[in-house]
Amino acid sequence: MSRLIITEAAPLKGKVRISGAKNSVLPIIAASLLAEGESTIEEIPYLNDVRIMCDLLSYIGAGVEFLDNRSKLRIIPGSVSCSTAPYELVNKMRASFLIMGPLLTKTGIARVPLPGGCAIGSRPVDLHLKGFLAMGAEIKQEHGLIEARVRGRLKGAKIYLDFPSVGATENILMAAVLADGVTTIENAAIEPEIVDLATYLTSMGADIKGAGTDTIRICGVSSLKGSSHSIIPDRIEAGTYMIAAAITQGDVVLENVVPDHLKPVSAKLREIGVEVSEELTSIHVRSSGKLNAVDVKTLPYPGFPTDMQAQVTALLSRARGTSIVTETIFENRFMHVGELKRMGANIKIEGRSAIVEGREKLTGALVKATDLRAGAALILAGLCAEGKTEISDIEHIDRGYVRIDEKLRALGAKIERVEEE
Ligand code: UD1
Repeated sequence: MSRLIITEAAPLKGKVRISGAKNSVLPIIAASLLAEGESTIEEIPYLNDVRIMCDLLSYIGAGVEFLDNRSKLRIIPGSVSCSTAPYELVNKMRASFLIMGPLLTKTGIARVPLPGGCAIGSRPVDLHLKGFLAMGAEIKQEHGLIEARVRGRLKGAKIYLDFPSVGATENILMAAVLADGVTTIENAAIEPEIVDLATYLTSMGADIKGAGTDTIRICGVSSLKGSSHSIIPDRIEAGTYMIAAAITQGDVVLENVVPDHLKPVSAKLREIGVEVSEELTSIHVRSSGKLNAVDVKTLPYPGFPTDMQAQVTALLSRARGTSIVTETIFENRFMHVGELKRMGANIKIEGRSAIVEGREKLTGALVKATDLRAGAALILAGLCAEGKTEISDIEHIDRGYVRIDEKLRALGAKIERVEEE
């Protein structure tokens, strides 16, 4: 167990390089199982979640090797020898459920423990399963395991998602690329990570049209080859550093970003009064310190990302006036609010909204990272809070941010990691 200790610092200044996207690399590692040969994935963010997905692949019989200072992964799918994902790994990370589509396709049977309830809501997997069912799989749930089976190949099908779920779109897409016939996913998620997965699968020989729109058409092929792919930059990590600049009245350049992917965040920051300018692969963020209250509502892409809700709430707790932050994607994603209040923030929860009364100052306190993005929000608050902030349970933060303490220190933050027994 480690903690982060943060003391108020001068405005952040300098350049920070954004890592590859966690939410892209996880499905892409799972998808590499579908190939007949070896794949090389570049721009790997070396994170706990990535290690869990790699452990899962090794467990079921694939070869996984980190290269080039862990920035690259070589995956040799080999002959997958096991169809059951272990509870210990799935329980640690919900995204392990993404192994189901590739495993079912590859071996005709996939047994994956039902992902446990998660701090940010119930997060069911019914849409994933409806997709597999429509493609001819039999689904059974027993003893906490979901088992999907198919005799021969999955069959192409027309699938309408009741909600544009990112995970369901990815799982069904991975199952469809080697299915017999054409699959269409309607009301599909259109997040950049879906496009990245489709780009990788296409480079392996898959036939996919429409990724990045709400209708994806996949024409099944008989085999896929290994390929090389470079992961897109992490738009949520980037958004978090943009807010770090804004909340400290800083002047920061983010390198290795796709500004288009950050449009909803950039637009909101401009409304708040932060200066944001975009180049081809970089974004410059400057703030004079005057922050306006605004309303924010999380929505599927290209709406404001739910994964940035906690961080923007931290920023708005310093704005002038009253902001309303409404969470529409996950029903219980306000765990950070209680902790921010311990730091002096004035926030009230009403149903799915947080009413944020901006305050002149926050004060450092002992707080707990209840989940990944909640933890990020506490770091941001700690950067501008008076005195010392001590964050416990930071393993949640390490699931999604590459060396966040080092990157912030390089920008001038006073942040230390303290290892505990
Ligand atoms: C992914 C991201 C996560 C992000 C989320 C929404 C990864 C590894 N994680 O999570 O960081 O916050 O997208 O942008 O990429 N739902 C159902 N049934 C299902 C599946 C989902 O009802 O079968 C609901 C969920 O409960 C939630 C909503 O759909 O309310 C969105 O979930 P989804 O898009 O699936 O999120 P994840 O893929 O889990």
